[in-house]
Amino acid sequence: MARQNAVVTGYGFYVPSRVVTNHEFEKMGINTSDAKIIELTGIRERRFVADGETTSTMAARAARAAIERAHLRPQEIELIIVGTCSPDYLFPATACLVQRDIGAERAGAFDVEAACTSFVSAVAIANGMILAGTHRNAVVIGAECLSRLLDFKDRNTCVLFGDGAGAVVLEASNASVGVESAVLHSDGSKGEMLWVEAGASKMPATADTVAQGKHFIRMQGRETFKLAVKSMADAAEEALADAGITADEIDLMIPHQANIRIIQSVADRLHFPMDKVFVNIQRYGNTSAASIPIALAEAAESGRLKKGDRVLLAAFGGGFTWGASVMEWWGVPIPDRREKTIVERAARTVDDLLDKVLPGA
Ligand code: ACO
Repeated sequence: MARQNAVVTGYGFYVPSRVVTNHEFEKMGINTSDAKIIELTGIRERRFVADGETTSTMAARAARAAIERAHLRPQEIELIIVGTCSPDYLFPATACLVQRDIGAERAGAFDVEAACTSFVSAVAIANGMILAGTHRNAVVIGAECLSRLLDFKDRNTCVLFGDGAGAVVLEASNASVGVESAVLHSDGSKGEMLWVEAGASKMPATADTVAQGKHFIRMQGRETFKLAVKSMADAAEEALADAGITADEIDLMIPHQANIRIIQSVADRLHFPMDKVFVNIQRYGNTSAASIPIALAEAAESGRLKKGDRVLLAAFGGGFTWGASVMEWWGVPIPDRREKTIVERAARTVDDLLDKVLPGA
């Protein structure tokens, strides 16, 4: 059998309808301004969830859109991976809630937690499983509900983050080279520079931890900024080298949308032109694990990313974690799957019927 690569055959995203402009922070009594937030970050507005919306509900909407675009049925999905640092619960995994909500009854499901690097990490895992031949497809999602982890008295963090979800379907195919490289790194010694201290097993929630605001995101911004620039640029260079290409062979770079100045500095280091860098931070802020898949889906929907383009992803986040990936963008259903799927579908229907008539046979 020919070597099977992992290619993107579907994509989708969801952002909540509530737009929160920079001016709203001024109205909350925070000592900030629209001009200062734009100057420091490039962010003009972000989306916050409504009551009843959660990381899993956003993830499920993005996943449904990606599966539909790939011309698959939820029952055909074999694996669901959700990258998130704001899961609905400590457990069950958000991926299991998505599995239930979209009716992916045959899928395995688990979460990946590498903060803003979670989506790139999840792509690396799904790619490995498809290359190994254990799975034929995977829905890889980045989803975050960070507005519920923000301290609206801390101007250093509350203006940065937003909510949303993005998803891709990765499938085994010999039609495209697909994912060409995926590199991951970490430095756990700097974990406390960007973290949520309480609410898990080391420091369970108590009235005291709540009073001290230990359930909110805390960040040492300046150090995080410097490391983000260096790490994303280094990872991007490594991913390019692993793929055996140079930066000028990349059609579009999609960096984690953490801060416009970080994005510009990474592009500078790589001598990469900003007109080939996708930026939507001005509309969504930093959506952590969701930022790259939202950007991928927007770039594809708007025609910035076309079939056959080479795309470079680069991420950095809490942990610290960082990584990068090069892939040839496909973005359409696999042409030779339809026929095979009809035969498989027929066989499965017979199987299902037999199971009902002769259970256990
Ligand atoms: N409004 C007004 N003033 C502000 C605000 C604000 N929202 N935020 C900071 N300032 C002030 C500071 O108090 C400081 O004032 P001073 O000069 O009087 O002391 C001044 O602006 C500059 O502050 P710095 O913190 O030095 O500014 P910096 O240029 O470092 O920008 C920022 C701050 C935006 C937080 C930046 O450090 C940053 O983007 N850090 C990295 C974010 C990131 O990449 N996170 C990783 C991913 S997130 C994840 O993994 C979950």
